[in-house]
Amino acid sequence: MADTFPALLEARLRDALAKVVGDTPLPPDFAASVGPAQNAQFGDYQANAAMVLAKTLKANPRQIAAGIVEHFDAAGLCESPTIDGPGFVNFRLAADTLAARVRAMLADPEKLGVAPAAEPKTVVVDFSAPNVAKPMHVGHIRSTILGDCLARIARFLGHRVITDNHIGDWGTQFGMILWGWKHLLDEAALEKDPVGELLRLYREVNARQKEDEALRETCKAELVKLQNGDPENLAIWEKCVALSKRGLQRIYDLLDVRFDHWLGESYYNDRLAPLVEDLLARGIAEVSDGAVCVFFREIEALDGKPAIVRKSDGGFLYATTDLATIDHRVEEWGADAIWYVVGAPQQLHFDQIFAAAARRGITAELAFIPFGSILGKDKKMLRTRSGDTVQLADVLAEAVERARAIIEEKNPELDEAEKAEIARVIGIGSVKYAELSQYRMTDYVFDWDTMLSLKGNTAPYLINAYVRTRAIFRKLGGEFAGAETIALTEDAEKALALKLAQFAEAVPSVLNDFRPNALAAYLYELANTYHGFYEKCPILRAEGAARDTRLALCELTGRVLKKGLDLLGIATAERM
Ligand code: ARG
Repeated sequence: MADTFPALLEARLRDALAKVVGDTPLPPDFAASVGPAQNAQFGDYQANAAMVLAKTLKANPRQIAAGIVEHFDAAGLCESPTIDGPGFVNFRLAADTLAARVRAMLADPEKLGVAPAAEPKTVVVDFSAPNVAKPMHVGHIRSTILGDCLARIARFLGHRVITDNHIGDWGTQFGMILWGWKHLLDEAALEKDPVGELLRLYREVNARQKEDEALRETCKAELVKLQNGDPENLAIWEKCVALSKRGLQRIYDLLDVRFDHWLGESYYNDRLAPLVEDLLARGIAEVSDGAVCVFFREIEALDGKPAIVRKSDGGFLYATTDLATIDHRVEEWGADAIWYVVGAPQQLHFDQIFAAAARRGITAELAFIPFGSILGKDKKMLRTRSGDTVQLADVLAEAVERARAIIEEKNPELDEAEKAEIARVIGIGSVKYAELSQYRMTDYVFDWDTMLSLKGNTAPYLINAYVRTRAIFRKLGGEFAGAETIALTEDAEKALALKLAQFAEAVPSVLNDFRPNALAAYLYELANTYHGFYEKCPILRAEGAARDTRLALCELTGRVLKKGLDLLGIATAERM
């Protein structure tokens, strides 16, 4: 696997710098980093090393830049570097270098030039994790889409990835559900739409108990009975969990999201009491007002914010379960890292359990990957017209329906089965892409017209770009047959080849700060670059080496778009 262009340029830059500074050692924290050029007119990549060094060496940056240019070995990689501005050094890759990279990527259909992670890790990705019998709301949409994408990318980069759906199957909501099940259950509705009926029960009882003190107490008593193993309540609970899981599975199937495990909160019930005893025995937790708490007096941000792991009535909490879950993941699965894709409001909870885990000697890397809200057009939290939280299943159904209407208009002669399939691909893809193309902490506005538009940074635009690459081979009456020669002569060809090669930079960059939007932005630029190339360079009318080269670029663009979208969890269609 070849290094990325920045890595290759950095190695040669360091060699050149060593000659420039002579016996003066480079500052220890100095990184000779090469990034994309600010202005494509000057080059493909650029380095600001001369300016950084000028400060520490108290020298003139342009003079250092001149030294770099003088000593830089460009052979077989790029043209002679140039200097601009206060001392930027610009690099323009040689056409042969780009052509060789295109060839190498074509010969590597699986990874397309992306190098595996230097240190493969066992990573547990904890995402989605809705609560049984409670609405799976838009927060869970974000978690599901982001988490699945991060898992796909980590796996593609060679990590051993374990996905675990830590569903909330043991919360206080069961007090209400149990009472509702016993008094308000509509059997026919349960038969028809189990998740909807459970949700109705939850909403109904929740509303009633707010007004009704006695009912609140009765629900609590139902919950205690469940926790003490009452057979009737346990049987109802089991049924609720099974029905909910089936409903959830349908949504995951539609989304093409898979979990290796579904170890919900209830899985850890038996481990909670011994865990708390262990925390007490080791002096990590202490009794305070009858409750067992872990205090973090030495951590300023957490001082005065203890994690409660056992209530004074003996009940365990969310934090207790999460600590037991970490143990399980480390001991049973050998987790080196655990990634939690959960909404920003849970920041404190994760700060607490990470600090408590560290005290228990857990060395696995624990990462909280928060995200913001989805807003309605009114810039307030997204709600249905009746003011309820929006249900993921409804969002997906509407997405497919709206995509269908667009296809009906754009391409009415397609057959029914194909229309349905494309509607699914476009509809689901649009919802996912609207999420993944934003920085995860951004609160974004959920707007059907924008996300389903064929123009702009959208899934339909990217899928359409892929379709256009495929249409060329359909016109040709066959698949890509390999290219005899790849010779890049036009600027538009070189620009496209460079963009394609940068797939190897874009994919790993997602994991730097868990930003799928970096890959989305890359794919959008690739599609734009492809359109520019397509307009300037005739393909089927070209001949000889030019035609070979251009067909190769089309083929590779199609492959990179398809793979890139797949890493985002988005499917493609062959036509639309
Ligand atoms: N069930 C929780 C919720 O809906 C999310 C769980 C996230 N995972 C975890 N290990 N705490 O808010």
